[in-house]
Amino acid sequence: MKILVTGGAGFMGSHLVDYLINEGNEVTVLDDLSGGFKDNVNKQATFMKGSINDVELVNKAVDEVDVIFHLAAYAAEGLSHFIKHFNYENNLIGSINLINAAINNNVKRFVFTSSMAVYGTNQTPFDESLTPNPEDSYGISKYAVERELAITHELFGMKYVIIRPHNVYGVRQNIGDPYRNVIGIFMNRIMQGKPPRIYGDGEQTRAFSYIDDIVPCLAKSAFIRAAEGQIINLGAAEPTNINDLAEMVLRAMGSNLKSIHTPPRHEVKHAFCTIKKSEEILGYKTKVHLMEGIQKMAEWAKRVGPRKSKVWEKYEVEKNLPSFWKVLK
Ligand SMILES: NC(=O)c1ccc[n+]([C@@H]2O[C@H](COP(=O)([O-])OP(=O)(O)OC[C@H]3O[C@@H](n4cnc5c(N)ncnc54)[C@H](O)[C@@H]3O)[C@@H](O)[C@H]2O)c1
Repeated sequence: MKILVTGGAGFMGSHLVDYLINEGNEVTVLDDLSGGFKDNVNKQATFMKGSINDVELVNKAVDEVDVIFHLAAYAAEGLSHFIKHFNYENNLIGSINLINAAINNNVKRFVFTSSMAVYGTNQTPFDESLTPNPEDSYGISKYAVERELAITHELFGMKYVIIRPHNVYGVRQNIGDPYRNVIGIFMNRIMQGKPPRIYGDGEQTRAFSYIDDIVPCLAKSAFIRAAEGQIINLGAAEPTNINDLAEMVLRAMGSNLKSIHTPPRHEVKHAFCTIKKSEEILGYKTKVHLMEGIQKMAEWAKRVGPRKSKVWEKYEVEKNLPSFWKVLK
């Protein structure tokens, strides 16, 4: 099958590409390397370097493709309030370019990695039947794309699947991004002799999901009839608070540092999902439990070493920006 993976040089995308190639598919990767790395891209994939905002390139990439996995995005929930224009251009308009091309090229199935961010503050555990209530620009853009896909199906018959992964972590995650992926941020800081920095009291909870448990289900979602037109949460069910998480990361990294706390930021306090639908439709199972996954990632992180933080050059809004993001510049 001919498959396009946008964001295939990134963390989840590159693992997905490996899996799809292993299964005998012909894979093209479209990625602008803004958050991913060329080294992540499977040598057997065709690599197109460029943005989903480049309409001409998108049309070329989608030509004669059967299935699209659309993962390209800048997924920094908290930061998205301060880079709204960039967020919507990259995550929403870029997705629309891809949807247009998919319609025009009669793509058979469009798999979109949305996010748990669409739920916002909502009743936990988040169930797919809840009415979304996104509280940040990133979540709003993801929800808008979800709606676009539903309407696109109604009008043009294009089949789609919406996957809402939650807090995926593991080998190849971009640990150099100081704005997202808490486990990677902690590891990168610890390797530089800096303690984990926790927003507020650290009692906020998330369910962390190891990449190896996610990828087969994500890949299969394009080929399972029961997944068509569905919204499916994907990831672990067990919530962990950030204080405990920091302790686990410190242990895995073999560090004696002690976490520090900063003032809280605007974020959803408790965010974890139901997994029944993914178990039933995609055969999801948590095989790699949190401490084991953190240990695997820590071994890898220590091998590759700390990554220089990529700091945002110019925030679009400076008002209410967390103070330590200001000093990153
Ligand atoms: N990792 C998670 O916990 C998680 C949770 C929920 C949803 N998601 C979604 O899954 C997808 C993959 O996330 P990830 O964690 O692998 O992130 P990632 O940053 O590692 O991967 C995203 C990739 O997209 C590329 N990209 C970004 N903007 C682009 C553009 N305009 N044109 C072309 N390429 C572009 C980046 O270079 C990067 O390689 C994203 O859509 C994200 O929103 C991730």
